[in-house]
Amino acid sequence: MCGIVGILGKSGENVLPSLLNSLEKLEYRGYDSTGIALSNGDGGSIIRVRSAGKLFNLKEKLQNMEVSGSIGIGHTRWATHGEPSEKNAHPMISTNLAVVHNGIVENYKKLKFSLENDGYIFTSDTDTEVIAHLIQRELFNDFSPVEAVQRCLSVMDGALAIAVVFADHKKIVAARRKGSLVIGFGEHVMCVGSDIGTISQLCQEVSYPEDTDIIEISENDAVFFGANFQKVDRPKHEVEHDPCHELAETYSHFTLQEIMDQPSAIRKTMLYNQNKIDESILEGVNTILILACGTSYHAGMVAKYWFEYFLKIQTNVEIASEFRYRSPIIADGTLVISISQSGETIDTLAALEYASSNGNCKTVAIVNVKNSSTDRSSNVVYYAEAGVERGVASTKAFTAQLTILASLAFCRNWFLRQQLQNIPTICEAALSIGDETREVARIISKSSSAIYLGRGNLYPIALEGALKLKEISYIHAEGFAAGEMKHGPIALIDERMPVLFLCPHNELFEKTFSNMQEVLARGKNIIAITDAEGEKNLPSDVRRLVLPTVCSAVAPIIYSIPLQLLAYYTALELGTDVDRPRNLAKSVTVE
Ligand code: G6P
Repeated sequence: MCGIVGILGKSGENVLPSLLNSLEKLEYRGYDSTGIALSNGDGGSIIRVRSAGKLFNLKEKLQNMEVSGSIGIGHTRWATHGEPSEKNAHPMISTNLAVVHNGIVENYKKLKFSLENDGYIFTSDTDTEVIAHLIQRELFNDFSPVEAVQRCLSVMDGALAIAVVFADHKKIVAARRKGSLVIGFGEHVMCVGSDIGTISQLCQEVSYPEDTDIIEISENDAVFFGANFQKVDRPKHEVEHDPCHELAETYSHFTLQEIMDQPSAIRKTMLYNQNKIDESILEGVNTILILACGTSYHAGMVAKYWFEYFLKIQTNVEIASEFRYRSPIIADGTLVISISQSGETIDTLAALEYASSNGNCKTVAIVNVKNSSTDRSSNVVYYAEAGVERGVASTKAFTAQLTILASLAFCRNWFLRQQLQNIPTICEAALSIGDETREVARIISKSSSAIYLGRGNLYPIALEGALKLKEISYIHAEGFAAGEMKHGPIALIDERMPVLFLCPHNELFEKTFSNMQEVLARGKNIIAITDAEGEKNLPSDVRRLVLPTVCSAVAPIIYSIPLQLLAYYTALELGTDVDRPRNLAKSVTVE
């Protein structure tokens, strides 16, 4: 949520092109506005250019301007304080500095009041502007840039990551408190970014600051200040280039590329984890608690079905943002599993922290982004090797999460582990129904609402299918347990309402089929997603998408695929910005 980048050129070259390139990679974190600030650190003025809306607007604006600088910062915004407008776009400026910020300054009102009393004039509605003025106030008091940042942070509450440039210092000062941040060491530049993908093209090595670190970046080095403002060493890691950052010529959207990439993502995830996930993690475990948000929460819901059925361990799945505010009890012997694509979702992190400090429990993180805050806060980490996910709506990370959860759930069952091995190949077959989903997408795109129904471990997939449709096509959609229809949602059915049934020919088929009859008696627009055997039983007037036959245990992975394709093609029909849907951000670092 909000992305920041900072680049310091080592030999005075203009960093603007690199900044814009990095901002493109950051856009998934927010696109309400973008902005850059450039300086040469030689006492000249700081140039700032900002624009409301997506990066495209900023680039257009810059085309008619001649701006350059050897030190620069950039920002993509997901608005929290203040409407998405140019006035509220970062960087925020105070006399001799500019700052970009990801996070929230919780006590900004009090700080603003004190700054206004000192004569500082605010020009935006953001909380970030207090950071700029607070640092400036300390610079006026003759503190050095890094000291000024440290003094500013000491009076601020909230989670954040910042980068600051100065008019008269050849430095960038960055800091993190819970927010994500990476420092990059390159041949030609030093840099800082919200994630490694933002800066990987610029550097050969990176370091990950620890929580509360402040980093003073100059032309040849980065000095890290840890607890008590003492200099500390942070290890450097070699940068591995991830091809997932680039859009292949064959695709027009990352979302489709990522949907199609699932067989490979699942294969890699299984391979990477094959010797890591085993029964030993379950030793002494009486109950499992899963914490997650959004799509990751749906993966957790599927896992509840799996863990209780195959491991016979009671499992609770909690929406992370609700969990810690109701004083939940963490029993001894609880295995806490947090699931997060980004590893930076603040609600999930906070829920994990609550569980760790209020119970005697083991913590496992299932995360896609390496070196994230979640993996650093957990005893054990299982990585989803899905690669970078650039589409804001999560697709391949979801099925990779399911693969990990299934590997754990099936750890005592040889037959199911074998079934899992076949999943990448079955996924390939499931992906080949793309053209048929296009037809159904055309129908859905003409509706203002859609209903998704499933039973058993496909109920969470119905929820996920509805979420995907909402996220990228903006069509209202709801998922329900098929058996719940008659308790209310059936009132929504009329002749036009598309109703999607997830109904493979499994042990629950007859039940789901009865629910389908109930809907058929009232509506006409039914789409069944089924297998060859299920298809034989369908009335002729029911549209169908037929998937390969799989055993019920692994069906959630396969049945996710047509729903992702449906959402994608519906969005395409409607011409929405599929990879960057309105109002959303991929990494949600505010509560
Ligand atoms: C945001 C994203 C969703 C994602 C959710 C949880 O809302 O738009 O796609 O499912 O955050 O993110 P996480 O990174 O924790 O899985």
